[in-house]
Amino acid sequence: MWYFYSTNLSMTMGNISSILEQSSFSHSDLEQLLQYEGDEKLLLFRKGGDVKEMFVGNKVYFRGLIEFSNVCDKDCYYCGIRRSNLSVRRYNLTDSEILDAARFADENKFGSVVLQSGENSSQTFADRIGNLITQIKQLSNGRLGITLSVGEQTELVYRRWFEAGAHRYLLRIETTNPLLYRKIHPNDRLHNFSNRLDCLHSLKAIGYQTGTGVMIGLPFQTVSDLANDLLFFQQFGIDMVGMGPYIEHSETPLYAFRHELLPIQERFDLSLKMIAVLRILMKDINIAAATALQAIDPLGREKGIKVGANIIMPNITPGLYRNDYSLYENKPCVDEEPAQCKGCLDARIALANGEIGYGEWGDSIHFVNSKKKG
Ligand code: 5AD
Ligand code: FES
Repeated sequence: MWYFYSTNLSMTMGNISSILEQSSFSHSDLEQLLQYEGDEKLLLFRKGGDVKEMFVGNKVYFRGLIEFSNVCDKDCYYCGIRRSNLSVRRYNLTDSEILDAARFADENKFGSVVLQSGENSSQTFADRIGNLITQIKQLSNGRLGITLSVGEQTELVYRRWFEAGAHRYLLRIETTNPLLYRKIHPNDRLHNFSNRLDCLHSLKAIGYQTGTGVMIGLPFQTVSDLANDLLFFQQFGIDMVGMGPYIEHSETPLYAFRHELLPIQERFDLSLKMIAVLRILMKDINIAAATALQAIDPLGREKGIKVGANIIMPNITPGLYRNDYSLYENKPCVDEEPAQCKGCLDARIALANGEIGYGEWGDSIHFVNSKKKG
């Protein structure tokens, strides 16, 4: 019996090694990689870390995340700050609070900030963001890089913000399976899969470093869906990816399907596998270790860094508001002040054998290379 077991094990180890040596990967290779457990899974994680070191180095770049408003026009079935959740205390930081947070990021050599909020497509909102971009550039003498994560907008608005000085944009596709997309969003004009895809194309055409991502372990999601998500990132030629485990929120409609979910630890593991496989697939992109990883495991983001991620987005939203930006439950670090957060992160990155790229933008090498080619 033992003999058979060890033969099978070495056979499968041989199998994973030969997949990992390939220079291109089919849908079924990716599915297989995502399903390895035990020693093979560890081999996958190690390979993700090695490829990262080889192609993007061991530096970890910070993006100071400013969650400036939790007011949202949308009603995504998974999200804790969806419009219909009436128990959320809504907030909107003042411009001077946002600028103070940006100043903090600059003084602490974070290199760049991410402005994130719920979705709003009004003219006032577009004007406000445009002015904030200009002011952040001014206060940092052009030092701070600016990433936006404020959802679907018109091409005109995206262009205007780009011209004002924003240079990266994050818009998660959430899932690349249109049928699954339909199941986790209301079926209306505001939540339309092809609009979202069009937005990603506009962002890329305008010249943003474009980032997207998916949630991992959603109800009704299959390993085949996740393999397709990875192939989508590759075919699109994405510059940055942020993806993390889906975490149920009791005040959302998807909570009704919580019994159909993978156990939380498996969702966590699957997220690490997605990071490792993506790093092997797209060697020179920026991959963020999502905060949702840390909501499950206190060392979640560090584990993400070890298997292939190179970006962390420390939350620098003033402490007063952090509890109210609850996309999912158990969000970590909501009681810390930004300065405490920074000290904590220095230690954490050192633990993951990483070095922090202080004062650097840490642009996606994939983006820089594709610009040269283009
Ligand atoms: N669990 C995990 N991630 C979530 N997001 C929203 N709700 C949840 C949840 N319940 C993610 C979405 C969104 C990003 C800002 O947060 O992917 O794009
Ligand atoms: Fe706000 Fe989905 S609920 S964008």
